[in-house]
Amino acid sequence: MFNLKFSLFILGAQLVAAASCDIYASGGTPCVAAHSTTRALFSAYSGSLYQVKRKSDNGTTNIAPLSAGGVANATAQDSFCAGTTCVITTIFDQTSRSNHLTRAPAGGATPGAGPDSLAPADGAPVKLNGQKAYGVFISPGTGYRNDKTNGIATGDAAEGLYAIFDGTHYNGDCCFDYGNAEVSANDTGPGHMEAIYFGTARANAGAGSGPWVLADLEDGLYTSASSKGTTASNPTITERFVTAIVKGEPRNQWAIRGGNSQSGSLSTFYSGVRPNGYNPMKKEGAIILGIGGDNSDRAEGTFYEGVMTSGYPSDATENSVQANIVAAKYTAA
Ligand SMILES: *[C@@H]1O[C@H](CO)[C@@H](O)[C@H](O)[C@H]1NC(C)=O
Ligand SMILES: *[C@@H]1O[C@H](CO)[C@@H](O)[C@H](O)[C@H]1NC(C)=O
Ligand SMILES: *[C@@H]1O[C@H](CO)[C@@H](O)[C@H](O)[C@H]1NC(C)=O
Repeated sequence: MFNLKFSLFILGAQLVAAASCDIYASGGTPCVAAHSTTRALFSAYSGSLYQVKRKSDNGTTNIAPLSAGGVANATAQDSFCAGTTCVITTIFDQTSRSNHLTRAPAGGATPGAGPDSLAPADGAPVKLNGQKAYGVFISPGTGYRNDKTNGIATGDAAEGLYAIFDGTHYNGDCCFDYGNAEVSANDTGPGHMEAIYFGTARANAGAGSGPWVLADLEDGLYTSASSKGTTASNPTITERFVTAIVKGEPRNQWAIRGGNSQSGSLSTFYSGVRPNGYNPMKKEGAIILGIGGDNSDRAEGTFYEGVMTSGYPSDATENSVQANIVAAKYTAA
């Protein structure tokens, strides 16, 4: 097995380090959605990362990386939003599939309500390798979604997900999620979701008092095949930046992994069979951020970047992605 960690490849005349989605592609499990307001997730990506809208005149502008594969141009946001306030209206998909995230509509958990709120564009300042950028600050009532996706896993098909969150921003309500959900914004039953959850919404889910990286599989947040008791191998997260992974494949296999986005490697918190009633899965292929599948929008958290793949990524591929994340040098601003 060759080591992707230090792999470089030639792009045009430049020598560039492989980014997260280049690494997943090399592993045979390509990204089918790639979302980040902080940086490009392909080394060749120089398109828009996200769109902001300002209050003074409802004008919008798209924020791109400083260079292909680089960190977002935060200066562009700061100058566009000077003297007024801005919200993040769109988080663009960096793959060619146009799986963009926009304001989530009302759902089964919020009958009669309007759509969710949009995140303040300057709500989560951060630095990557010393350069300023902004994450997506989700407070209760805020959420993003795409119900008409392209290439996202459905049914029992295999997929992998990772996201980077602020490990210090969470609550115990439902549900700060990123990943695969119902296309109807309604709870359609067990196995209709496969998303990463971060927070303390399920008491005694992992070791200590949380927060934990859990999986929202619909009708339950899981750490293992059991819906009860504590999974001791799933630790309370104490890091400022957490890399969170959930993946699932046919034949009754799924896993939760995680680590410190600033250093070190990933640990496997669970790998094994699914809970009773979740095999086969009934994934629907919508994408949510900051909410549950039925638009339960009472949770909070901060999202910096995340992807969804086609196929079940190997641990080795994810370990290389973690090395790329560490090399991005996330620090608090
Ligand atoms: C911006 O759009 C909103 C919603 O359509 C509207 O209520 C508001 O008056 C607009 N603001 C300006 C400055 O045009
Ligand atoms: C960043 O945005 C500013 C403001 O829009 C712009 O002047 C500058 O050229 C951008 N930087 C790069 C490297 O594109
Ligand atoms: C969601 O469920 C509600 C209540 O059962 C129903 O009225 C609504 O039509 C459903 N929405 C969709 C998009 O299926």
